[in-house]
Amino acid sequence: MTAAATLPVARDLASWRRLRPRSGTLGFVPTMGALHEGHLSLVRRALAENDHCAVSIFVNPTQFDDAGDLAAYPKTFDDDCALLASLGAPFVLAPTADVMYADGYAVRVSEHQDANVLEGEHRPGHFDGMLTVVLKLLNIAGAHHAYFGEKDFQQLRLVRTMTSALFHPTKIVGCPTIREHDGLAMSSRNRRLNPAQRDLAGHWAALLADVGRPAGDVSATLAQLGFTVDYVADRWDRRLAAVHVPAVEGGPDVRLIDNVPRPGTAS
Ligand code: PAF
Repeated sequence: MTAAATLPVARDLASWRRLRPRSGTLGFVPTMGALHEGHLSLVRRALAENDHCAVSIFVNPTQFDDAGDLAAYPKTFDDDCALLASLGAPFVLAPTADVMYADGYAVRVSEHQDANVLEGEHRPGHFDGMLTVVLKLLNIAGAHHAYFGEKDFQQLRLVRTMTSALFHPTKIVGCPTIREHDGLAMSSRNRRLNPAQRDLAGHWAALLADVGRPAGDVSATLAQLGFTVDYVADRWDRRLAAVHVPAVEGGPDVRLIDNVPRPGTAS
């Protein structure tokens, strides 16, 4: 029996309709798998605040602007199912790409304001893919609440904008970022870092947390440490940043994003 067999898995809409609870409130946690403590905190909250909880695992191809990044994205489905079962999550929605994109991605959702900056500038098409899949998943899940981490702050902001603009009934709940002992935000991408890169990543977290320093200084220091800096920017009462960790000791190219509160930077 594989670990995945510990949980019922819905691969298509018909099996999801059979599994879906018929009464009570449903909390929904959309993920791309490679689950870590950050995801588990969302699942725990969804379980605590609702009668039922549904988790989706779908590595969404349309939100990857780089085929290499999609290929390298960690895929750990059986382990993910075992973790969810240990928390008491009752089932997994893991639709295939054919189910999700029967239209060949002809229909898509775009936002034309906040999606154009920061991540949107550096990852063309990323937010169209993300918003499109989130809307599809929210429609399928039919949940009362959906839980998103603040680590992807721009994503959370855009999901809220979309659901509000399209009168979607699911309430979007933002949840705090979960961090490692040295402040590094938990991310599925962290598991790609080699030990030397992981050490460096601790410096990036510490520099980002130092919100009293001007963003330009933080960016310059990161560059001195060997990071390729996509942006360090103050917006929406946060400091948001994205970097590529240097490929020390033959490590792979790993791009990390993070943000911390920085009141007084509303625009
Ligand atoms: O944050 C993620 O893991 C993804 O962007 C999401 C929300 C599951 C959509 O694919």
